[in-house]
Amino acid sequence: MTQRIIVGISGASGAIFGRRILEMLNDAANVESHLVVTPAAERTISLELHRNALSALSTLATVRHSCDDVSASIASGSFRSDGMIIAPCSMRTLSAIAHGLADNLLTRAADVTLKERRRLVLLAREAPLHAGHLEAMIKVTNLGGIIFPPAPAFYAKPQTIDDIVTQIAARSLELLGVAVEGSILRWDPPPT
Ligand SMILES: Cc1cc2nc3c(=O)[nH]c(=O)nc-3n(C[C@H](O)[C@H](O)[C@H](O)COP(=O)(O)O)c2cc1C
Repeated sequence: MTQRIIVGISGASGAIFGRRILEMLNDAANVESHLVVTPAAERTISLELHRNALSALSTLATVRHSCDDVSASIASGSFRSDGMIIAPCSMRTLSAIAHGLADNLLTRAADVTLKERRRLVLLAREAPLHAGHLEAMIKVTNLGGIIFPPAPAFYAKPQTIDDIVTQIAARSLELLGVAVEGSILRWDPPPT
């Protein structure tokens, strides 16, 4: 059965995570991906990756929706999906989700994901965090969402930025039930 995953990219630093996730979904068997990118993310994608990265990244998705199209399929709970991931997730988007503020297609799709009790994973990125950010994280967690800060797992002994990005992308996709075996370095305790 085909898995349908919604991918949101918002304007926090870390557009590279969104790109890696789309690459992994594109490589995975039987996955249909639905992409929505905020206007701020269009800016960070061009600043952090390269000027034409958005069009290359969009071709990795099965469907790309416009962020202002609140009549898109993913805006409705009747559209069957297997969950949504927002990578990276800005504090603005996190706060909107925490308060049910469905003010664009990305935040509406996230709100729908929560109301339908489907899995929502947020690679929330800001540093440092103030109490408002932390409260929004608690609110989203209480609503059933998963806050997944894109923090490196140094126990996996990453050698390159790509190792770090791949590990984080794979661990977050695993939370949505996407098969990513082979991309995750698992903790292997040394003999005592
Ligand atoms: C280069 C760059 C890096 C940014 N990094 C972050 C960040 O890490 N976290 C964050 O919450 N906002 C960050 N911002 C600010 C957001 O883009 C801004 O708050 C925007 O309104 C978010 O809108 P969105 O949630 O609709 O994508 C960054 C902006 C730029 C231009």
